[in-house]
Amino acid sequence: MQTETLENAKAHVDQNGFLDVELDPTLDLFAEIERLKKQKNAVLLAHYYQEPDIQDVADYIGDSLGLAQQAQKTSADMIVFAGVHFMAETAKILNPGKKVVIPDLKAGCSLSDSCPPPLFKKFKEQHPDHVVVSYINCSAGIKALSDVIVTSSNAKVIVESFPKDQKIIFAPDKNLGAYINKVTGRNMVLWNGACMVHEIFSLEKITRLKTRHPNAKFIAHPECEEPVLRMADYIGSTTGLLKFTQTDPSTEYIVATETGILHQMMKASPQKTFIPAPPTNSCACNDCPHMKRNTLEKLYLCMEYEMPEILMDEELRVAAKKPIERMLEISAKAGL
Ligand code: 13P
Ligand code: SF4
Repeated sequence: MQTETLENAKAHVDQNGFLDVELDPTLDLFAEIERLKKQKNAVLLAHYYQEPDIQDVADYIGDSLGLAQQAQKTSADMIVFAGVHFMAETAKILNPGKKVVIPDLKAGCSLSDSCPPPLFKKFKEQHPDHVVVSYINCSAGIKALSDVIVTSSNAKVIVESFPKDQKIIFAPDKNLGAYINKVTGRNMVLWNGACMVHEIFSLEKITRLKTRHPNAKFIAHPECEEPVLRMADYIGSTTGLLKFTQTDPSTEYIVATETGILHQMMKASPQKTFIPAPPTNSCACNDCPHMKRNTLEKLYLCMEYEMPEILMDEELRVAAKKPIERMLEISAKAGL
């Protein structure tokens, strides 16, 4: 019965990772994924924005920096990347000898999409005396045009590693860029990109929620817009937010980032209350639709059939690797 189902599934899984068949619901996907990990010497890396079931079966859950570090150092034969495309691509760039698979090849990123390499190349040409600092949420094409990559955990440290008078272009997130300008006193030229999830929070609704929960701390990811960040008691990457809730003495938090992180917050501090910051409309728009393309079923199938696989042009990979390695070196020196 199971073999039949798998054969049926195989016919419907292609390099795009499309899954248009129902798997046998009696199949224990958690056990199957564990079996496949051992059988294939695979490591499962998951971002905090993945659905709880995927987080629970992962070998490592982290933010973009932690995931890149894990991908670089793994000795597994196959990296199964439960995240979005630019994250899996970064894993391949850093560790090309490994097979890198992703549950859904179409799990993209609105922020990455907001910065097409041909347009950015022209923008860069208009600022010839600037260095380019790019947020890791971009394509390999943008990375190859950059001097150094940053994540939300290390952006401040990396920008500060440049002399004060160094002219800098920051791409693609204007919100993170504006926040880093503010905390470093720099005046970086910002590419006009943003994340569709972090731009959706309603200042008005957050204010109302804070009034109703006067003891709750408001914590936010730096991809949020400046008026939202101004209200925050703490600003940090997903790992930063999680650690804050573990060490801070408060018992209630309003959390302005993608809702997936709440799973780890609740697991780490079950006695505390976590309230997702409300979006401007009533749908669950602070769920990233790209991250949430990955499902446990697709994860299982991508491990079983080892596709969709991240494949890259070698010249592009080598060019994109240099600024990522520079980021990892500066981060290691800073103890990040
Ligand atoms: P971090 O993982 O660096 O917190 O970034 C969040 C994000 O938006 C990833 O897409
Ligand atoms: Fe991209 Fe935003 Fe989704 Fe992160 S949350 S993957 S930045 S669209």
